[in-house]
Amino acid sequence: MEYRFSGRSGLQLPLISLGLWHNFGSEDPFDVARAMLLHAWDKGVTHFDIANNYGPAPGTAEITFGRVLREDLAAHRDEMIISSKAGYWMWDGPYGNGGSRKYLISSCDQSLRRTGLEYFDIFYSHRYDPNTPIEETMQALVDIVRSGKALYVGISNYPADKQKECYDYLRAAHVPCVISQYKASIIAPETLQANLPVATENGSGFICFSPLAQGLLTNRYLHGIPAGSRASKNVFLHPEQITDEAIARAQRLGAIAAQRGQSLAQMAISWLLAQDVTSVIVGASSVVQLEDNLQAINNISFSPDELQAISNSVK
Ligand SMILES: NC(=O)c1ccc[n+]([C@@H]2O[C@H](COP(=O)([O-])OP(=O)(O)OC[C@H]3O[C@@H](n4cnc5c(N)ncnc54)[C@H](OP(=O)(O)O)[C@@H]3O)[C@@H](O)[C@H]2O)c1
Repeated sequence: MEYRFSGRSGLQLPLISLGLWHNFGSEDPFDVARAMLLHAWDKGVTHFDIANNYGPAPGTAEITFGRVLREDLAAHRDEMIISSKAGYWMWDGPYGNGGSRKYLISSCDQSLRRTGLEYFDIFYSHRYDPNTPIEETMQALVDIVRSGKALYVGISNYPADKQKECYDYLRAAHVPCVISQYKASIIAPETLQANLPVATENGSGFICFSPLAQGLLTNRYLHGIPAGSRASKNVFLHPEQITDEAIARAQRLGAIAAQRGQSLAQMAISWLLAQDVTSVIVGASSVVQLEDNLQAINNISFSPDELQAISNSVK
């Protein structure tokens, strides 16, 4: 594994990080989740991306991670970067959603209890909340660091016109934003184009989520919708998104990947790494998928012809 510095910080992150949004909850097989975490760790993946609401059920990905850490990896805590977030719905009532100081600090405390950690390496504001002043959300992040509950802070999903306000506030408080997390893939490059330059100019690292478009940029759906797949669950990826056009696009991109000696999943991750992002957070439902994805780091340079062919194929 290679590691890149996150913006203008001393923190290095692996080219590929593992995300626990799906497949690590109480409804998923613990043995598979554990095997993926241990495989990632064995391959040099030092960064694990979690959030308060990951599961299903919400909160249980943190419990799964905490159990594996306690039972298998406790000796390695100082070699790991573990992140969590608060911003989306977590509990009912006015204090379990959004960007208030009340929500962020109590959610961080709950996440620490669920994981059994003393501190997170990175704690994020998961989203911009138009009903809370940015100053309040950013000061909550600052105070989470000051009280020893996190070492670094990050932002996620902030619109480009709000992003710089966060960086300015955090920098002035001497808790600079170490990383900015946005959705990005070959077929969804918009946030990369809008937010990566602002992050880079302001010294923040940049980490991409859903690099495989939740499975659309893999061979997962080439022959229908497999039982147990994300689209079959019809929550965040829907069967109607598995269109003939999406399958044809995956086939076109897969042919380019094959010429590069890669799977489509690998090429999709390599393409992001070639954009000078800090790290790419992959999801997986098996060790086989995860291993496929990890091989992406072996070929992250693209010829102008390949880039043109990719660009033509997503149209
Ligand atoms: N900040 C935010 O708001 C935010 C939002 C979303 C995600 N994230 C983070 O980003 C992480 C990754 O997001 P994501 O899970 O959407 O990423 P993704 O990598 O785009 O999609 C992962 C899914 O693609 C399929 N897959 C993965 N590798 C495969 C392979 N080699 N071959 C075939 N299929 C493969 C699997 O689907 P099946 O389950 O069907 O097998 C897997 O669950 C999350 O876990 C989370 O940490 C953050």
